[in-house]
Amino acid sequence: MKTRANGKVILLGEHAVVYGFPALAVGITRGASAWFDEGASARNDGSGGPWLVLEGFTEAVAQTDPSEVGRAFSSILCESGAALDPGAVLHVSTELPPGGGLGCSAALGVAIARALEPRANDARVMHLAMEWEKIFHGNPSGVDAAVAAHGGCVLFRKGQALKPIHQATPLRLVVGHSGVSSSTKHMVDKVAMRWESDRANVNKLFERMGALTEAAASAVERGELKTLGDSMTEAGELLSAIGLSTPALDQMCNEARKLRALGVKLTGAGGGGCAVALVDNIDVENAIVQSWTQLGFASFATEVAQTKRWTETPESIRAVG
Ligand code: PMV
Repeated sequence: MKTRANGKVILLGEHAVVYGFPALAVGITRGASAWFDEGASARNDGSGGPWLVLEGFTEAVAQTDPSEVGRAFSSILCESGAALDPGAVLHVSTELPPGGGLGCSAALGVAIARALEPRANDARVMHLAMEWEKIFHGNPSGVDAAVAAHGGCVLFRKGQALKPIHQATPLRLVVGHSGVSSSTKHMVDKVAMRWESDRANVNKLFERMGALTEAAASAVERGELKTLGDSMTEAGELLSAIGLSTPALDQMCNEARKLRALGVKLTGAGGGGCAVALVDNIDVENAIVQSWTQLGFASFATEVAQTKRWTETPESIRAVG
């Protein structure tokens, strides 16, 4: 049995969310899977297991390994207290680019948490996934893990209950990768330095972003896609003003605006990673995917993943909660 978790796209509020402001985010169907290797006892050589294999990235990493992956695995295992055989091998895979701003590490953390504790509720899963996330991100707000576990469209505020946002109209998004991966920890530190040196202005900017995020959440509930798009674009300009955009992200945003996206911005930590465009018809969606791809930015169209919890069986994918 495979467990699944969503990737995520932050529509508005990244970085401000670290300072207690809300973020509006959606789960996407691209995400991560985890599964135990049934024939794993062959690995039981007493040298530091259980083991984790990050498909396409690592060979089997022992929980005693000093690498980030090893430490993150050890951290989530310790918090879980799941009784694993030292020969156990957990495989994880993801369709999300690491350092792409699409919640890759949180999706992996949630998939692993579900594999370790198949009966855990979302709150418990998020809690466990945060132990994994902390090793990579230092002090994550928790928005990525929350959306990875919950899916749908949610308004997230640090330390508060997640608010699911009903979508009056399905949201169509185009996501494109600038080709450069970025470190969330590094970008969060960069914003912290800016905040330390220019608190009044950065706070003002985050306050505006918070107001835009609340307005955007209401717009989603009312199906007012133009308001949502305008809010996203302005939020993106605020992120650029803090120095989080790059020439490639700017190029993607300009191109999507020309092609009549309702709104477009960088998404996630910035400094690379992805841009997201909101569109209201298939022609604009295709045009943006085609144009970004021709410019050399790997792109895909996606809708919001509606299902809360996933388990993948060989026969089918079915929702379990
Ligand atoms: O780049 P990502 O997908 O890890 O985005 C993280 C969002 C931030 O607000 C920048 C950090 C956080 O912990 O919320």
